Amino acid sequence: MMDLSTEYLGMKLKNPLVAGPSPITRDLDNIRALEDAGVGAVVLNSLFEEEIAHGHGAHDHFLDHSTESHAESTSYAPALDYTPVGTEPYLEHLRAVKQAVGIPVFASLNGCTRGGWVEFASELEQAGADGLELNVYQVATDPEVSPADVENNYAEILSAVSKAVRIPVAMKLAPYFSSLPHMAKRLEECGAAGFVLFNRFYQPDIDIDTLEAVPNLSLSAPHEVRLPLRWIAILDPVVKASLAASTAVYTWAEVVKLLMVGADVTQLCATLLRNGAPVVPKLLEGLTAWMEEHEYESVTQLQGCMNHRTTSDPGAFERANYLRALQSYA
Ligand SMILES: Cc1cc2nc3c(=O)[nH]c(=O)nc-3n(C[C@H](O)[C@H](O)[C@H](O)COP(=O)(O)O)c2cc1C
Repeated sequence: MMDLSTEYLGMKLKNPLVAGPSPITRDLDNIRALEDAGVGAVVLNSLFEEEIAHGHGAHDHFLDHSTESHAESTSYAPALDYTPVGTEPYLEHLRAVKQAVGIPVFASLNGCTRGGWVEFASELEQAGADGLELNVYQVATDPEVSPADVENNYAEILSAVSKAVRIPVAMKLAPYFSSLPHMAKRLEECGAAGFVLFNRFYQPDIDIDTLEAVPNLSLSAPHEVRLPLRWIAILDPVVKASLAASTAVYTWAEVVKLLMVGADVTQLCATLLRNGAPVVPKLLEGLTAWMEEHEYESVTQLQGCMNHRTTSDPGAFERANYLRALQSYA
């Protein structure tokens, strides 16, 4: 009997497929269908800093933050469509999901300032979240803000959230740090029990007729899985925290590869948006069949069998790989 179980954020999951945060997990029926289809856990869509009520002080702070720092920025600032709806709808959804399913349910908080919104983490814990995903989406645009300032902001937000709760907190990161291993170690010291790799940045386009910036959401392309693949291979030997891969997990082969480099779980988003819950049993069947064929008995046996743990100089390996890639172009 194949053992697909994995440990993530100190919890045993029946398999490494996790439904990642997206509009899919905003809906209770979808989550029930995902549990029936076999996912090991689910992450709810994020509660955004901008949605949290004025009472918490975060929304005002967020808007003031940019207008104060640049005299001219107000005229360029796009109107925020987010109405601060308060936290109750999110809490209600979380409670309903917890009642409806037996798999672990993670809530997700998303913001970028050090406002009062982080205090909301404890309400998510009280509403039954088994863990928390913290997504800090920040684009540094001010030349006065140094890389250290940006990194301190991540660390301070995480510390505040970690101190507010007893449940595990996983930090969802962007790949754009000068030294991701250093950053990950630092965040681990600030309480990160896991990392979700990676957050996706959506660059706006420009409408050349209306002269407007147009929000643009393209789902990941299959080759983009190589970003978490590389970084999990680098980070797994460096950190003790759990590692979740997020980006372009479309087929069971990607799940195999991500486990091989050391992922504890793989999060599904774009494939669920495209194919719905029926893709889950297909991924599980493919994973199981491949493992049987290659005589693996458990996911644990597979995890981390191909990463930088045994590479004497990972930096030199990455440099050599870069050169080989360029030379391979015929
Ligand atoms: C429409 C949409 C909504 C998303 N909403 C959230 C969200 O609320 N919180 C979050 O952390 N990530 C969110 N994401 C990011 C996904 O969870 C995931 O990290 C990203 O899409 C990469 O995975 P994929 O290639 O499987 O789509 C969203 C992605 C999409 C496409």
